[in-house]
Amino acid sequence: MSKILYISSEAFPLIKTGGLADVAGSLPIALSEQGEAVRLLLPAYPQVMQQVENSQQLAKGNYYGFEVTLLETHLPNSEVPAWLVNCPAAFDRPGGPYVDNDGQPWHDNALRFALFCQIAVDIALDKLNLGWQPDIVHCNDWQSGLVPALLQPFKERPATLFTIHNLAYQGLFSHQTFSDLGLSTDLWHPDRLEFYGQLSFIKGGLVYADRINAVSPTYAKEILRPEFGNGVDGLLQHRQKRLSGILNGIDQTIWNPATDPHLAANYSACKLAPKCKNKTALQKQLGLPVDAKIPLLGMISRMVEQKGLDIILDAMAEIVKLPMQLVILGSGERHYEMQLVKWANNHPDKLNVVIGYNETLSHQIEAASDLFLMPSAFEPCGLNQLYSLRYGTLPIVSNVGGLADTIVDANDLNRQNKMANGFIVTEQSAHALLTTLRHALALYQEPAAWEKLQLTAMKGDFSWKRSAEHYIKLYQLALADRDQTVA
Ligand code: ADP
Ligand code: GLC
Repeated sequence: MSKILYISSEAFPLIKTGGLADVAGSLPIALSEQGEAVRLLLPAYPQVMQQVENSQQLAKGNYYGFEVTLLETHLPNSEVPAWLVNCPAAFDRPGGPYVDNDGQPWHDNALRFALFCQIAVDIALDKLNLGWQPDIVHCNDWQSGLVPALLQPFKERPATLFTIHNLAYQGLFSHQTFSDLGLSTDLWHPDRLEFYGQLSFIKGGLVYADRINAVSPTYAKEILRPEFGNGVDGLLQHRQKRLSGILNGIDQTIWNPATDPHLAANYSACKLAPKCKNKTALQKQLGLPVDAKIPLLGMISRMVEQKGLDIILDAMAEIVKLPMQLVILGSGERHYEMQLVKWANNHPDKLNVVIGYNETLSHQIEAASDLFLMPSAFEPCGLNQLYSLRYGTLPIVSNVGGLADTIVDANDLNRQNKMANGFIVTEQSAHALLTTLRHALALYQEPAAWEKLQLTAMKGDFSWKRSAEHYIKLYQLALADRDQTVA
């Protein structure tokens, strides 16, 4: 058994902007079910505090001139302790974890997450006298990137693992910010935290962690190439021996069509027929023509370049002519939102766009749709295609990252071998997307063939148990590497 400090800037159901929250809300539970002693460390945002009924103060300190208390509660519906970094000056404000209500990054993000990292370091070195020192510190994305760098000088430090959920977000700030944060001047070097004249939080993890992993095997290889490497492919090549890929799992309790409380009708692989009641219910709810026979394509996404919105918009003039309906739920960059809403206003019988974040609707779309659209330009893992598989909703995806690792195209050979569970768009273009869509729509007209694909999809095993076992092995490797480094 190891003691693990799992550090994340979001965790479902306490606070969520994307897939990182789903992972941080599930993996610690799966690890503790394997016998590991896990503590989740999370900022005490107001959304988190609203859900916390009982908390206990564990420690108190002063960081960057701000009073900080460490509170203990539990990750809901589990025994996993969640430690909340309660610093009102940094975290108690309206808006999201990273951006304000206008979608602008908080001006003091560097300070907020440096403070978060500093307290993590003090826990890791047992400086807060909690009587609990982790063996492993597991960091996730740039918000916890400084932790491995700050722990590096200490002989008595835990081993560190840095998980890359998305290399496109690096936590880059000015040299002035580097000075203001009081970071040791020897960290200002291109081989350390400096990235082309800027401070890079993520480099703290990429340079210093004993082990690094990405959230799928294919993404772990892709980021070694300039097209996917976001300027750090050279560094990752240098650390290649310490880099691996572990596919995310999904929470099969929350995402289970047989028991999902959000659905109009529950269904399962053994009893698939009620699925289409979810389609007619959603059509009614959103004001689309109600027709159980028309194929429904769903999409739930952050509206950012990563998610393939450019090729969807390029293809939209043709998409609205196809014999199908499309429902899109998401929010993000204004220009994408506005273009999609315009298309929806002009084609209300074909396309419905809901701007916003809506957990219930996301479950309803997964259940109602026949096909799920996810033609990402890059995708470190992707969870929505996995939820779709479980809901018998066949994903249409690009051949990248975790999408390539989880979706098997419905070509003749794969169908014969009973491996096919979705559709792959062969290149990042409107033309390729339309070709794949037409292929999927043609197959939809063959109910027996379609049902076989659905059943293959629904039988896939993406439970967290398997991924947790891989992480436990990786922790052992990180411990061995730490021992070599500090020896
Ligand atoms: P990413 O983390 O890059 O956004 P993932 O596919 O890993 O992509 O995870 C996205 C998660 O966020 C999924 O659980 C998805 O259902 C959820 N999600 C994204 N946008 C919305 C939205 N507008 N409303 C509800 N859930 C959303
Ligand atoms: C990131 C990635 C997504 C991944 C998620 C959880 O947000 O964009 O592909 O599934 O993290 O690891």
